[in-house]
Amino acid sequence: MQPVRVGIIGMGNIGRHHAGYLLARQAPGVELTAVCSSNPSKLESYKNLRAYSRPELLISSGEVEAVIIATPHYQHTTLGIAALEAGLHIMVEKPISAHKADAERLISAARAHPKQVFGAMFQLRSEPRYLRIRQLMKSGELGRITRMNWINTDWFRTDAYYSSGGWRATWKGEGGGVLLNQALHNLDTVHWLFGQPARVRAFCKLGGSHNIEVEDEVTAYMEWPDGCTGVFITTTGEAPGTNRLEITGTRGRLVLENDRISFLRNESDMLEFSRTSKSGFAKPEFWTADIPFSNTPAQHASIMQNFAEAIRDGKPLIAPGEDGVGSVELANGMLLSALDDTTVSLPMDSSVYEQRLQRLIAESKHQKTVVEIQSDDFSKSFRR
Ligand SMILES: NC(=O)c1ccc[n+]([C@@H]2O[C@H](COP(=O)([O-])OP(=O)(O)OC[C@H]3O[C@@H](n4cnc5c(N)ncnc54)[C@H](O)[C@@H]3O)[C@@H](O)[C@H]2O)c1
Repeated sequence: MQPVRVGIIGMGNIGRHHAGYLLARQAPGVELTAVCSSNPSKLESYKNLRAYSRPELLISSGEVEAVIIATPHYQHTTLGIAALEAGLHIMVEKPISAHKADAERLISAARAHPKQVFGAMFQLRSEPRYLRIRQLMKSGELGRITRMNWINTDWFRTDAYYSSGGWRATWKGEGGGVLLNQALHNLDTVHWLFGQPARVRAFCKLGGSHNIEVEDEVTAYMEWPDGCTGVFITTTGEAPGTNRLEITGTRGRLVLENDRISFLRNESDMLEFSRTSKSGFAKPEFWTADIPFSNTPAQHASIMQNFAEAIRDGKPLIAPGEDGVGSVELANGMLLSALDDTTVSLPMDSSVYEQRLQRLIAESKHQKTVVEIQSDDFSKSFRR
């Protein structure tokens, strides 16, 4: 198969990470041929590639068949639409857009260009641990899912991180905080594993432990149409953090924590047991099993390889771009719930949230200081 010629727009943390594994040929079927950054210093190390200072020059260059859009969130929508209209396939970084109305605009442009592939960079979907959990849930091994609980607080970020980019953690530049940036990966996993809840009620701290105007601590309650309930807790202000996902079904409980999946399997369905037991204090017998999975880390490269296979061979995408609206809606809905002190029903009216966000932008008084960060090992930032 001829490799797909790809360009990257936005050569910051994640853009450079994509360039690294693509140049090392770790994503078969993808050839990086061009890069684009509005910051010329970010292009200096890519002398062997075509380099562009403006996205429209890369998009119209004829050098690429596809682009990875790795700019700050708001531009995912505008650049995604521009690339689709120029006939390119698009791989959009998470979140696919900063808010649901923009996500709908991007999705509608993708639907107008059905021959072009629209992928989203949700690498957790390629991780063996989540694939294993999903397979156990789909196979009925857990019975009917009744509850989920995710303490997902292992996203610690320093003040230096928040000062490192003018766009970060501002309503105008980013459109949200931990929900839309770090924990968005996990919200996508919630959407992918459980489907979209029918209602959310959340409590958020804006600038709880950092000098920022957006949310950095969240506790959210969710309800699904079939009665399943869930709690999702996240923050960038807690160390050491926790990453514990607990899923209860009528046939037992699954716990993912510390690189281990354990399954406490009921001998009989717990609700059936409750209905039929003659004893008031009896519980179903259960046994415990460790569920094996291969411990490979998050794989941006495998999402890119799959993107190329979708373009060349029509293979189904691991993370279709359209699916990205689920996590954006969850992030927006939780924030709206906290801001307005109300329960939000999903699907949410995207225009209501867009207007609320515009108000936050208009009323913002936060003064942001931007400080260049020392060079860090960015790959340390990837969490599961
Ligand atoms: N999938 C992941 O694991 C992952 C990890 C980190 C970031 N991201 C996502 O990637 C995006 C970028 O995050 P980051 O941490 O790399 O940000 P960053 O600030 O480090 O980099 C963004 C870069 O985009 C450039 N840029 C801005 N506007 C541009 C334009 N119009 N044309 C060309 N270049 C432009 C900036 O100069 C900057 O270098 C965000 O949406 C973020 O959510 C995803």
